[in-house]
Amino acid sequence: MDFNEVVTSAATSREFLDEQISDDTLYQILNIARFAPSGGNRQGWHVIVFKDKDIRTKIKDLYVSAWSEYMGYVSLGEVPFLRESAGDEGLIEAMQRHYPLPFADNLDEHPVLLGVFVDLNQLAVTDGNIGRQSIVGGASIYPFCHNILLAARSLGLGGVITTVLARRESEVRDIVNLPNHYAMAALMALGVPKKQPQRLKRRPVEDFASIDTFDGNSFTI
Ligand SMILES: Cc1cc2nc3c(=O)[nH]c(=O)nc-3n(C[C@H](O)[C@H](O)[C@H](O)COP(=O)(O)O)c2cc1C
Repeated sequence: MDFNEVVTSAATSREFLDEQISDDTLYQILNIARFAPSGGNRQGWHVIVFKDKDIRTKIKDLYVSAWSEYMGYVSLGEVPFLRESAGDEGLIEAMQRHYPLPFADNLDEHPVLLGVFVDLNQLAVTDGNIGRQSIVGGASIYPFCHNILLAARSLGLGGVITTVLARRESEVRDIVNLPNHYAMAALMALGVPKKQPQRLKRRPVEDFASIDTFDGNSFTI
């Protein structure tokens, strides 16, 4: 598969065939992903390959509860986590419901399950303390996650980057013995996709690129 095909068809896959992925293949994926850029080239990532059944089950249970929390907001037509749930009985009740989702309900069965963590002491947060939500820190870890997806795709596999489990970071910390200066960045699943990915749907360049100023003419050819 050439580069363009990999990038334009690395769709999110949440359901996989019951086919094992060998450690050799996973090693090959991580061995490509490690060439991701990070601020100062500090490479603060740590990957946990979840193999143990009990640990996988615990991670699944936490994921399902975090997914319910997410869907609680969605079910009320709200942007997830934008506001605190404290004191809102309706929202709390909505967050306690079960929202069936094969990806979450069968999380412990996915061929590859990876926890991606990042060393907070290694993050170059150039937009820290400037009076708004910081965005730059994540840029030292998510290119690595995306490289995992791209490498998987290049080998005919599929997968997903998920982040809702970050809501349960403290519980995950206890399960995996995560040091305090590490944060949860993503939970990723990989496997042979049930549905072959098609070309991705994304906004055209003219929609998001402008010349000289934010409200300048669209950049086009
Ligand atoms: C930073 C980030 C966080 C995401 N978090 C979740 C998540 O928690 N759960 C989930 O099912 N998908 C998650 N996704 C997957 C997105 O839903 C997916 O990338 C998006 O819908 C585009 O899908 P496509 O590439 O197949 O078009 C996340 C993706 C990114 C990049």
